Amino acid sequence: MNINQAEFIISAVQPHQYPEDALPEIALAGRSNVGKSSLINKMIQRKSLARTSSQPGKTQQLNYYKINERIYFVDFPGYGYAKVSKVQRQQWGDMIERYIREREPLKMLLLIIDVRHPPSKDDCLMYNWLKHYDIPVCLVVTKADKIPRSKWDKHVKIIKQTLEADPRDPVVLFSSETGLGREQLWDVILKATAD
Ligand code: GTP
Ligand code: MG
Repeated sequence: MNINQAEFIISAVQPHQYPEDALPEIALAGRSNVGKSSLINKMIQRKSLARTSSQPGKTQQLNYYKINERIYFVDFPGYGYAKVSKVQRQQWGDMIERYIREREPLKMLLLIIDVRHPPSKDDCLMYNWLKHYDIPVCLVVTKADKIPRSKWDKHVKIIKQTLEADPRDPVVLFSSETGLGREQLWDVILKATAD
């Protein structure tokens, strides 16, 4: 995928701030620090367009990035950050569930999982939400560079088993460090956004 244009559009707090041009949206969810913003930067070949948050767990916004005037990446705030208050957690849940339930341009959600660890309870909840609302999901297993290649298969298998993932869901092994999986993930995204 050739990136001609990539720009930050808005940090949206309220649904009325979401873009209205109806371009397809690809959302990214995962634990705080799992590598969502790094993955966006790798996909669009920019070092730091997507900000790596200095205050994990604080951002209660959806960050919109427009790519090639064709699709949006929607970067969710990370979940599972220990120091988040109950109220913040609730607000996060309300915002995300509403987005997933109502957002018509949403074409696919990339659930980002760290290859080194089995999915958390929150990862499983998120996966089940997506299934409940019938949102296409791609499992992106990232930070592949952090473990030896010989262990990749075993770890991916544990991740799929823990989520009880539908075998039809695409799974992409990724590394924002090496670029592993970039082309494969673009293929999945373009397929999901082709009408
Ligand atoms: P929040 O926005 O706080 O939820 O975090 P995030 O999911 O956007 O994670 P972010 O992209 O900020 O990355 C967190 C840390 O992991 C940074 O130090 C990154 O450099 C590192 N990182 C992300 N992806 C990879 C990867 O594929 N390989 C390696 N080795 N490090 C990575
Ligand atoms: Mg981030």
